[in-house]
Amino acid sequence: MTQGQTAVFNPFIPSFKSNPYVQYARARDYAPIYHSDALNAWVITSHEACSAILKDPEIFSSNPRYASGAIANEVAREAEANPLGYVRNVLTSDPPDHTRLRAIVNKTFTPKRIAALDEHITDVTDSLVESLRTESKFDLMAGLAQPLPVIVIAEMLGIPPSERIRFKEWSTVVASATKLVPDPAELERRRVVTEEMVAYLGEIIDRRLSSPEDDLISAIVNDQDETGDKLTRDEAISFTILLLVAGNETTTNLIGNGMLALLNHHNVLDQIAANPDIIPSVIEETLRYDSPVQGLVRVATRNTEVLGTLITKGDVLMCMLGAANRDPAAYSDPDTFLFDRREKRHLSFGHGIHFCLGAPLARVEAGTAFKRLFEEFSSFAPVKGGLTRGGTLLLRGADELIISAEKRT
Ligand code: HEM
Repeated sequence: MTQGQTAVFNPFIPSFKSNPYVQYARARDYAPIYHSDALNAWVITSHEACSAILKDPEIFSSNPRYASGAIANEVAREAEANPLGYVRNVLTSDPPDHTRLRAIVNKTFTPKRIAALDEHITDVTDSLVESLRTESKFDLMAGLAQPLPVIVIAEMLGIPPSERIRFKEWSTVVASATKLVPDPAELERRRVVTEEMVAYLGEIIDRRLSSPEDDLISAIVNDQDETGDKLTRDEAISFTILLLVAGNETTTNLIGNGMLALLNHHNVLDQIAANPDIIPSVIEETLRYDSPVQGLVRVATRNTEVLGTLITKGDVLMCMLGAANRDPAAYSDPDTFLFDRREKRHLSFGHGIHFCLGAPLARVEAGTAFKRLFEEFSSFAPVKGGLTRGGTLLLRGADELIISAEKRT
């Protein structure tokens, strides 16, 4: 990396974790697409270019096997260590495989199935918020944001309550795959955990194949698309792991990032207290302003151009959603949190064929969490030293967020 480049964008320095947006803006001014030697990837900070790349899966693949150089070796090593080898899931496949897999899982993970969970999500949230009420200071992450999505997805899948803690640990370890530079011990831990998950879920799947129950795993293994096609056993395991990993840390981070934004915008806290109906708009603005998923990776399948820059077959492109969502070409006053802004669309759930399957679920969970918090507490304030940042280059969130809250009487 040249001296100039390092000064423009350097996700390795600690200030990136607390505020990547300064660096994104600098990178966009320097060049909305430029090659980072440190990441060995193109970093894209323009909304227009990110949208175009995500809309074109033929040229920009989601399959890391197309990558050239060091990343290709990394992918091969990971696949060797994975008991499922190269089994594709929706997230890492392109058409026609993606079209086939998505048609099947669309039948299973329907908005109707999610809407039916409304009451249940409220019950789970109620019991978590109820335990927070006993304290005047609490860690929002450990008390609500972390357990809520894992409990909901584990129950949907039909995983017994006694296994949920193990489930959460698995999900955290597998999500660490988005770390910039995992150390060998972490890679080994991920291999062990993946093996455990595959064995555990394989057993449940075999049981549901022979005697289906009224749960999501039974639907995953038995549902068919219009042509009668269904997932193979390995595809079903891979999809179940994906649901667990894609839905947990992301939704946790949405709740945490939302509270952080509110703590810095007291006027919005007051507005929600006066009118909770604005919560859905506040959540959408949180998604834009501080996206739980900061970047998506694609690989060029042929030589092409992006914004006039030559991209070579096998090159890795990082579409920085966190940057695109704050591109001044797409949003007026992009660094300001405005829940009633005119430009509603953001890229935080992706764009195009891979658009997030769980977006309706994430919206309901986060909406319910904030609704219940505002029903139980009349005010919220940060606690000094209460924020511990977590996250990776691609995921953004807090590990710990201790806040003080005043109970309603
Ligand atoms: C705030 C929470 C969430 C955020 C920000 C989020 C974000 C995203 C993004 C950006 C993508 C596109 C990936 C790509 O194009 O490569 C995606 C895909 C996906 N998400 Fe989510 N997600 C969230 C919650 C969930 C939940 C709760 C579930 C399910 C339980 C879920 C399941 C999936 C699946 C299966 C895909 C792959 C879809 C495909 O490739 O066709 N997500 N998500």
